Amino acid sequence: MNTRTELVKLLSDAAFHSGTDLGKKLGITRAAVCKNIRRLTQSGLDVHRVTGRGYKLDAPLTPLNRSRILKHLGSAAADFRDRLLLLDETDSTNRHLAELIAHAKTLNGMACLAEAQSGGRGRRGRAWVATPYHNLMFSMAWRFPGGPGLVSGLSLAAGLAVLQALDEYGVDGAGLKWPNDVLWDGRKLAGLLADVQGESAGPTQVILGVGVNGYISREDAERIDQPWVDLRNILGETADRNRLAALVMRHLRNMFQVFSEKGFAPFREAWSSRHLYHGRRVRLIQGDREFSGTAEGIDETGGLIIRHARNRQVFHSGEVSLRPARV
Ligand code: BTN
Repeated sequence: MNTRTELVKLLSDAAFHSGTDLGKKLGITRAAVCKNIRRLTQSGLDVHRVTGRGYKLDAPLTPLNRSRILKHLGSAAADFRDRLLLLDETDSTNRHLAELIAHAKTLNGMACLAEAQSGGRGRRGRAWVATPYHNLMFSMAWRFPGGPGLVSGLSLAAGLAVLQALDEYGVDGAGLKWPNDVLWDGRKLAGLLADVQGESAGPTQVILGVGVNGYISREDAERIDQPWVDLRNILGETADRNRLAALVMRHLRNMFQVFSEKGFAPFREAWSSRHLYHGRRVRLIQGDREFSGTAEGIDETGGLIIRHARNRQVFHSGEVSLRPARV
């Protein structure tokens, strides 16, 4: 374990720890403790210092731990042992994984988790804000032999897989917002970003990035421009990110396996049954244009079917964003 990882582990209970005590436990000087704490705060972790008492996190956390994740994976652990990368910090797990697999022989199910992202990416060119060490920042890679057309609907199936992982984790009442946001009480709990690359004749490489809010600090909350919620708000406790990571990995890997054989069809009905806007009046924003209508369902490629008066139009996920109708 490196010093940074050990330091986070010591602080993870969110109790006060003196510089002297931390230094002794880590085998480093107080000045070195101070330097390491500064680096952590530069990564975005809130570490408070109170004279006479020491250092303290604003909320407890569960550090990512490879053997705990593998334990939670149970019988699936063997499939991931050589395919799981845990990082302290990277710019984006999607970008990091893309670079890693450029020369890799094994690729399907390769996964990367990070404690902190300095340039986390969201959909539609937005930044993804996630307080370091408190959230799930995860990517998984898969290669399909066919062209990119074959993977339409994949990001919806992935959203469903993440939702099922959250169900199994113990989150009640979450649902999907087309194309692949996971919402709870109308607020965003998790988001997915699919980076798809391929020639028209194939193969197609998909890097699927997942962000789940475990805990968002007050400072980070101010940088999020949409309603959000985190697991701490929902469950009233510190997220066990190792169990959650294992669940997300297992559900996503299973989804990829089924999707590569059968495409989107086996997911379509289950996806619709969890769509929070099914049958509701919605608005679709496309640049500065806006459409409104009723969300009728999704087609066989994952496109959203909107009915407006007698017209029926299908929208695709790259081009629009969905909002509830104004009341
Ligand atoms: C969205 O809803 O806008 C998509 C959010 C995706 C965030 C995750 S966090 C892990 C992975 N790495 C990234 O840079 N983005 C995705």
